[in-house]
Amino acid sequence: MTHKYYIVGNWKMNQSLSEISTFFKDLGTLPDNKKYEAWIAPQAIHLSKVLENGIKAGAQNVSDNNTGAHTGEVSPSALIDLGAEFTLVGHSERRAIYKEDNDFINRKLRLSLEKGLKVILCCGESLEERENGMTESVVNRQIELGLQDVHEANRSDIIIAYEPVWAIGTGKTASPSQAEDVHQSIRTKLIELWNEEAAKEAAILYGGSVKPSNVAELLNQTNIDGALVGGASLKGADFRALCDAAEDQKE
Ligand code: 13P
Repeated sequence: MTHKYYIVGNWKMNQSLSEISTFFKDLGTLPDNKKYEAWIAPQAIHLSKVLENGIKAGAQNVSDNNTGAHTGEVSPSALIDLGAEFTLVGHSERRAIYKEDNDFINRKLRLSLEKGLKVILCCGESLEERENGMTESVVNRQIELGLQDVHEANRSDIIIAYEPVWAIGTGKTASPSQAEDVHQSIRTKLIELWNEEAAKEAAILYGGSVKPSNVAELLNQTNIDGALVGGASLKGADFRALCDAAEDQKE
């Protein structure tokens, strides 16, 4: 529902320096006045390398502290200092493997916004939760707690990514109508938490086995404003195909 699509590559813990060079060679030059934003989230150590190639980049994770004795963490201000645009928070891999809860995710989100990053808040249900009819309640809770106490002025810097856990890296994409149903309920939740205007402006991205062959019909849904892409974002030609599909969408 926003005016711009987002194609966001989450490279996870992949790509060497030479693979990154090949990626940009294969990607080619993106047009200037495009209908979409193309963003990459590499491993934090590769952010400068990605930024050198003139594409907007951000982090896959961020600290809930901005400075001090937090060995191994990356602070929001250090990301800003480097020229990063955004950070993901609450990716399902961080929730599942590193036991991040909604409260911790909310602290990272608020601090990142305060320091000037845009934030992509990830949410999504497991297969078991879907099969038990809990999709909407799980996602709504993640949104509600993830967005708690956000200042009104920061709402426009928040992007939501709906990523059903069962569709991530499995080759099983949610059907466009399955995804659209959840996106619509997220939009309704945002209206309840914020207001109609702010909710309509918010970009809601879909993630989970998005690839060049299925991206167009996903983007074609009313409440799908872009894609957060893992596997199919690793090769420059595939990422380019995703971008071109966004450009080809009707307004
Ligand atoms: P895949 O596109 O590999 O399924 O990963 C999705 C994802 O987790 C993006 O954040």
